[in-house]
Amino acid sequence: MAKAHVMLLFLSAFTIGCLVVGSMAHKDHIVGGSKGWRLPPNQTFYQEWAQTRNFSLGDKLLFPFRSSVYNIMEVSKEDFDACTQKNVTQRFHAGPAIVELTEPGPHYYYCGIGLHCEAGQKLSIDVAATPAVDDASSSATMTGPTTAAPVAGFLAYLLFSLFM
Ligand SMILES: *[C@@H]1O[C@H](CO)[C@@H](O)[C@H](O)[C@H]1NC(C)=O
Ligand SMILES: *[C@@H]1O[C@H](CO)[C@@H](O)[C@H](O)[C@H]1NC(C)=O
Ligand SMILES: *[C@@H]1O[C@H](CO)[C@@H](O)[C@H](O)[C@H]1NC(C)=O
Repeated sequence: MAKAHVMLLFLSAFTIGCLVVGSMAHKDHIVGGSKGWRLPPNQTFYQEWAQTRNFSLGDKLLFPFRSSVYNIMEVSKEDFDACTQKNVTQRFHAGPAIVELTEPGPHYYYCGIGLHCEAGQKLSIDVAATPAVDDASSSATMTGPTTAAPVAGFLAYLLFSLFM
């Protein structure tokens, strides 16, 4: 077996490894961008912010805010819509707060202080079970971790058999 072939295999395995890691990398989302978590300029501000992003399992929400001025409550959809606190599942009082997304599906957050929820300091997101593949890192043959993993495994097997 020529050295060049071995080198080529190494390179392919490395490239695929990078693609797998890259496409599965967890993202950090700074809620509200440069504005952070505060009374928004309008009622749809946080919804507009969320619409430009994809949220996946393992991602983190970074809420920049000042303790005692703002807080975060994770609530049910009913509470979210009505700004009530009948079913609060999580509370974060110390800012800035980092909230890891450990459950797929919809999540609802608002600030439980004063009438901040009514003023639009509320955020609903839908967490995908698998990371979305960004257009830039995907190619015709690599569509995500589900296809890349078996290919990487196969290449590892090939490499292994070469040296035996
Ligand atoms: C809400 O405020 C943001 C930031 O100022 C702005 O970009 C957005 O267009 C506003 N949305 C509406 C519906 O006014
Ligand atoms: C969100 O995911 C979709 C579908 O995978 C993709 O087309 C889009 O570019 C993603 N948006 C961002 C901001 O990553
Ligand atoms: C409270 O909310 C959680 C999450 O939204 C939901 O799974 C649960 O069933 C709710 N509990 C009650 C008593 O409504």
